[in-house]
Amino acid sequence: MNKETVIVLDFGGQYNQLIARRVRECSVYCEVKPYTISLEELQALNPKGIIFTGGPNSVYEETSPGCSREIFELGIPILGICYGSQLMAHVLGGRVKTAPVSEYGRTEVEVDTKDVMFQDVSPKSVCWMSHTDYIAQAPEGFHVTAHTPVCPVAAMSFPEKRLYAVQFHPEVMHTEEGRQMLENFVYRVCGCTGDWKMDSFVETATKDLREKIGGGKVLCALSGGVDSSVAAVLLSKAVGKQLTCVFVDHGLLRKNEGDEVEEVFGANGAYELNFIRVNARQRYYEKLRGVTEPEEKRKIIGAEFIRVFEEEAKKIGAVDFLVQGTIYPDVIESGLGKSAVIKSHHNVGGLPDVVEFKEIIEPLRMLFKDEVRKAGLELGIPKHLVFRQPFPGPGLGVRIVGEVTEEKVKIVQEADHIYREEIARAGLEQNLGQYFAALTNMRSVGVMGDFRTYDYAVALRAVNTSDFMTAEAAQIPWEVLNKVTNRIVNEVKGVNRVLYDCTGKPPGTIEFE
Ligand code: XMP
Repeated sequence: MNKETVIVLDFGGQYNQLIARRVRECSVYCEVKPYTISLEELQALNPKGIIFTGGPNSVYEETSPGCSREIFELGIPILGICYGSQLMAHVLGGRVKTAPVSEYGRTEVEVDTKDVMFQDVSPKSVCWMSHTDYIAQAPEGFHVTAHTPVCPVAAMSFPEKRLYAVQFHPEVMHTEEGRQMLENFVYRVCGCTGDWKMDSFVETATKDLREKIGGGKVLCALSGGVDSSVAAVLLSKAVGKQLTCVFVDHGLLRKNEGDEVEEVFGANGAYELNFIRVNARQRYYEKLRGVTEPEEKRKIIGAEFIRVFEEEAKKIGAVDFLVQGTIYPDVIESGLGKSAVIKSHHNVGGLPDVVEFKEIIEPLRMLFKDEVRKAGLELGIPKHLVFRQPFPGPGLGVRIVGEVTEEKVKIVQEADHIYREEIARAGLEQNLGQYFAALTNMRSVGVMGDFRTYDYAVALRAVNTSDFMTAEAAQIPWEVLNKVTNRIVNEVKGVNRVLYDCTGKPPGTIEFE
């Protein structure tokens, strides 16, 4: 499909991904490219527009990432954001210098609503600023289209050349009318029509996969997580029974999870594919016996997964393609311009070494997570799978502190099931980033009826997070915690105490190990 594309040129800032996501939310396809891309390569992408994003230091320093003057002469609309705006000013002969005071946070910006970037935006718009340098003087030909008490040139434009620049960040939520500004750029300046929709992605991807695979055999490691589920369904739609999905039940899944995955993908499910469920529970428990160190547990679980998968792959024989659920953030984070490093997630990492295949296919390689979910809904995958919260590859192995045993797995599965049931009943699911029960390795004294007990403590965890890099403990209403606690101590044998984890990340991590 020859879709309208906007390119985000990355000068080393931290917002490139977010900008690309925001542009795609305007239904315009967007890719991130390094600033070192050549003009020829850039033109070959036939972009409708280019966005310059943040950089590390001052544009006028020798070593700072820059661009040539020629890029502004290609006739392609350009929007400079933050560092990108200063770079545009610097290269085209304006003046950039250290501002008398840095601006940080939400700032009222007076904008010229006659300028195309600020159409349908309030004259005093609240925007998010973060800068120490500023444009002291716009280059010749540019109009100043916004200012703040600190910033004489908070935005500038040269409409005849379709060059625009904003000092603030339209892509962050704190810029209240940022979405409108980005829409103005992609629709009104670049002339995009908004042809990036998930229904057309699904249709095109299916067609492309069919062409690429032909009559070949395809193998997919299915974890039941969002990415591998969507990848599998897409492939099933494309090549049906040429696809085999292997689902390894390592005995460290949540309660009923294995059966739920089988229900959707197995013989009685809705999809045309070969489904193999490998019951490897006892193997894992044996391997994990006596192991207490978290990283060692992770390694064992990962290595065992590869071994189980290898055995299954041998039974199937050589395949033509191996599916990986790589998504766009993995591609960006693993280094632009280089090929994507295979995810360290144990479900896929290492597989290429043990499976005989000709080529890897990554059907979701260009999608952000929310787009993967939209594609999933488009493909008719049940909502509980599409909106499933993240579950670590090593599963309950990292939610049981210390040695993993079958008995402990049962305890944490039951406790977690109760917790999730009550969270759902209270309608809190949508508000939480991740929540689960973990089994601490602590046993303590309690009393049950007339008897002394000496049992385990279960810890409940719930966090709010936008990126899983940082998180804060969620404030679960006391009534809910109280009810969960009562149910766990009454219904789960071996538990006499329930604790709530109030720690954020940092200093804690989301998982316990
Ligand atoms: P932490 O515990 O590092 O978790 O704060 C951040 C996010 O990553 C998930 N996580 C893992 N995912 N393999 C995975 O596939 C792992 O070993 C692993 N450890 C943590 C965790 O569930 C959370 O979403």
